[in-house]
Amino acid sequence: MSSSQEINNARFNEEALIWDANKKHVDVVETAFEALQRYVPALKDGTSKKYDVLELGCGTGLLSFKLAPHVRSIVGIDTADGMINAFNAKLASLPDPSKPNLCAINHLLTSADSPALQGAAAALATQRGETSSPPYRFDLIVSHLTLHHIPSLPELFATLQDCLKHGGTIALSDFEDFGPEAKRFHPLKKRPGVERHGIQKENIEELLLGTGFNEVRVERLCAITKWAEAEDGKVAEDLEFPMLMCVGVKS
Ligand SMILES: C[S@@+](CC[C@H](N)C(=O)[O-])C[C@H]1O[C@@H](n2cnc3c(N)ncnc32)[C@H](O)[C@@H]1O
Repeated sequence: MSSSQEINNARFNEEALIWDANKKHVDVVETAFEALQRYVPALKDGTSKKYDVLELGCGTGLLSFKLAPHVRSIVGIDTADGMINAFNAKLASLPDPSKPNLCAINHLLTSADSPALQGAAAALATQRGETSSPPYRFDLIVSHLTLHHIPSLPELFATLQDCLKHGGTIALSDFEDFGPEAKRFHPLKKRPGVERHGIQKENIEELLLGTGFNEVRVERLCAITKWAEAEDGKVAEDLEFPMLMCVGVKS
């Protein structure tokens, strides 16, 4: 595991305990969820009830638990134990915790066929009484505020494409690298472990097209206001950080 991944994991293990108490985290996930309903027609017309979904960087499950009633299954993956524990605590408090249609695993995704990912998808299939067999692939892959932590986006996009069924969609949201001010999204103490200060529209479009995705769209979906620390002669202030939604379809 890279040292920046270790730094991230330590930070998110600590933040997991208070993640959902931050109203901004909850609100921006709500905005991402509303955007997903616009970008993924099946979530609007109800056909997503047959969808198997993968969430990359699921954290405490803010987005997974919103999506769960609209889909058949969700596997959340995250690299921080603290986040997975928080996700599992929510699972345990469901009205019928013995039959959830979602789960979370601590996993660094490098292959669609990894035993951990396949095992999680198989467990959910068995739970719903299905006798399907591997390899398990997904109809939809979502991710929110995680791409900026991933060392190699070309490698990730190739892996996500392998994880999809034919006709499957990726819909990934993250903050935009809109210029030098984008680095102020993270205060100085949280910057170690951040791979990039947001994602760039043209770069992501090019990478998704280069990976072979079709119907590629990278569009601004909203802006979030965050308190940015004083630095480089700039005063501490509220700054607007645009968010991008990155969509592509595997043909
Ligand atoms: C900013 S948080 C967002 C969490 C969640 N998506 C949300 O919006 O509440 C980023 C998450 O990505 C996870 N993460 C970082 N690097 C990762 C990787 N390589 N694979 C999977 N998850 C990762 C972190 O542990 C953390 O939970």
